[in-house]
Amino acid sequence: MAATDSVAPLERGLAVLRALCASREDAVRPGDLVRETGLARSTVDRVLSTLTHLDYLRTDGRAFSLAPRAMQFGNAYLAASGLPDALESFAVRLADELDESVSVAVPDRDGARFVVQIPRRRTMTLAFRVGDLLPAERCAPGALFAPHWSTEQRAQWSRRLTSRRLAGGGASTTFSPLPPVPGSPPPQEIESAFDERATTAAKAGWALDDQLIEPGLIAVAVPVRDGTDGRVVAAVSVVSHTSRHSAESLRDHALGRLREAARRMEDELAGSREPATLRRASSPPSGSGSSTGSGQAPRGLPTAALIDEPKRDLGAHYLRSLARGLTVLVALGSRRGGMTLSAVADATGLPRATARRALITLREEGYADCLDAEGRLFVPLPAVLELGYARLCGRGIEELVRPHLLELSTQVHESTSVAVLRGPEISYVARVATSRIMQAAITVGTRFPAYATSMGRVLLAALPSAERDARLAATDLKPLTRFTITDPAALAALLQHVAADGYALVDQELEEGLRSMAAPIRDHRGRVVAAVNVSMHAGRIDAEHARETVLPALARAAARISADLAAMGDRLDLGAA
Ligand code: PHB
Repeated sequence: MAATDSVAPLERGLAVLRALCASREDAVRPGDLVRETGLARSTVDRVLSTLTHLDYLRTDGRAFSLAPRAMQFGNAYLAASGLPDALESFAVRLADELDESVSVAVPDRDGARFVVQIPRRRTMTLAFRVGDLLPAERCAPGALFAPHWSTEQRAQWSRRLTSRRLAGGGASTTFSPLPPVPGSPPPQEIESAFDERATTAAKAGWALDDQLIEPGLIAVAVPVRDGTDGRVVAAVSVVSHTSRHSAESLRDHALGRLREAARRMEDELAGSREPATLRRASSPPSGSGSSTGSGQAPRGLPTAALIDEPKRDLGAHYLRSLARGLTVLVALGSRRGGMTLSAVADATGLPRATARRALITLREEGYADCLDAEGRLFVPLPAVLELGYARLCGRGIEELVRPHLLELSTQVHESTSVAVLRGPEISYVARVATSRIMQAAITVGTRFPAYATSMGRVLLAALPSAERDARLAATDLKPLTRFTITDPAALAALLQHVAADGYALVDQELEEGLRSMAAPIRDHRGRVVAAVNVSMHAGRIDAEHARETVLPALARAAARISADLAAMGDRLDLGAA
C-alpha cells in the first residue's frame, strides 16, 4: 500500500471533523479548526463547506456545529460490529436484576469505548454515553483489555502517560473529559499500579474500578470473549456508587450475575456469527428505548451521482473525494463480518479504484481495518464513534429542535413551539417566543389540555383510533373559551380531518385571541412523537391567510425536524414521560 494511494482530502476532512468533535464548544469557528489541525485556512474552509453541503455540519455563517446526520458514521460501526444488537437485551436484563447501571465497552487502542449504556443513576456521578472513550488505566474494562494489547498499543499507552499528551496521527485518542487524578502520581507509578491491576484481573477474570474516575463512582467488570479465539471483544460492567456499596460489596453482589450475563453474551455472539455474505447488518433496532445503543444500518446512503453533483455548483469548494470517502465509511455499516472491496464499490456505486483508495485512507487513519490476513474484508473500527456519535448521542429534543424553531419564527414572525403528549395533556419541550407575547407565559414544561390545542390535536390524531377515543373518554372536556369544542363526537370527527390533512388549526379554543397551527414530527420509525406549532394573534392574521402564509413554512420545519429525529434514531432523548 503506497502512501500515494491514500486520499489527502479525506485525511484532511477527517482531521477537521475530529477537531470539531473534540472541541469543548458546540459551535466551532474555522480559525479554531485551523489552529487545532495545522491545516491551511483555505483547506479548512473547503472541508467545512463540503461537510455542510452533505448536512454533516450546520452553520450560522460564523461557527460550525454537528448535525444529527453525523450519527451515520458511528451507526456504521455499531451496525457492522453487531454488538449492541447482540448484547443490549442481556445488559438491560442485568440492570433490572441488580437494579444498577450496566454498560458494555470495547477495546479501542489504549482505552475502553462504550457501545451499550443502560443507565440507572441515582447519585450525581458522571454519566457516560455510547461512544465515550475512557483511558484504560481509569476504568474497570481497561484492566481486562490491557493484557491483550499489542506491543504497539502498549507503547502508545506508555507514551501517553509520559507525555500526558495525545499521540498524533490518525484517529486521535480523544478521551471523555474526566476529573483529574488527585495528586497526579508520576507515570511510572500509574504504570506499575495498572500493570498490577491488569495481572490480577486476568487471573481472577474480573476487574474493579474503585473510584478511579471520580470519588463515589465504583464498577466491576468481566470480559466477554470471542468463542473461536478467546479474544476479549468486550467487557460488561456494573456501575454503582459508594453510597450504596463498597467496591468489595458491589463485587460480591454483582459478580455472579455479571458472569452469567457475560456467558449468555458469549453464546449469543457465537450464535450470531454467520458468513459475512449471508448476514447483512440490517436487522431493525430492537426498540428498547433511548438508553440503548442499537447500531442502525445506513439509511439514505447517497448515490455516486448525488455525491458528485455538487462539484458543478460549489466548484473548488466541494471536495468530492472527501464526500466519496465518507460514503465508503457509512457503507461499511451495511454488512456484518466485513465487506470486500467489490461489496463496497457495489454499495456506493463508486469505481473500485476510488473505493479502494478510500478504504486505504480509512485504515491508515484508524477508522477501518482488515479482518483477514489477505486484506480482503474491511470493517469499521470503534474509533469511528468519535466522529460525531459520542457528541450527538443522548442530545435532548429541545437542543435538537431549537435551531429549527428559531428559523421558523424568523420566517413567520410568530412564536413557535414543540410539544409532546403526556396523558391527556401536551407538554412543551421547546419554545421560541417573538416579542409580541400575548398569552400567559409558556415555558418548557408548561402543560395544556390536548383537546383544545393545535399540537394536542395533531398528537391525538396520530393515535390508533381506539386509543384516541379512550383518551377523549377519560378527559374532562371543559369549555376553556366560548369557542372550545367539547362534544366528543365533534372532536372525534375533527381529529379524523386532522389526520387526513396532516395539520391542525385551532381558533381561540384555548384562549380568546389566540390562533395556532400545528404539524406532526415523526421519528426514525415514522411514528408521530411530537408536534410543532406557530401561534398567532387572531386579530392580526385570519385563518385563511394563516393557511396560505404560515402552513408551508410550518410543514417545511416539521419535515426538517423529522429528518433530524430520524438521523438520531434510537439515540434521541425524548425526556421522561
Ligand atoms: C460506566 O459505564 O459508566 C462505567 C463503566 C466502568 C467503569 C466506570 C464507569 O469502570
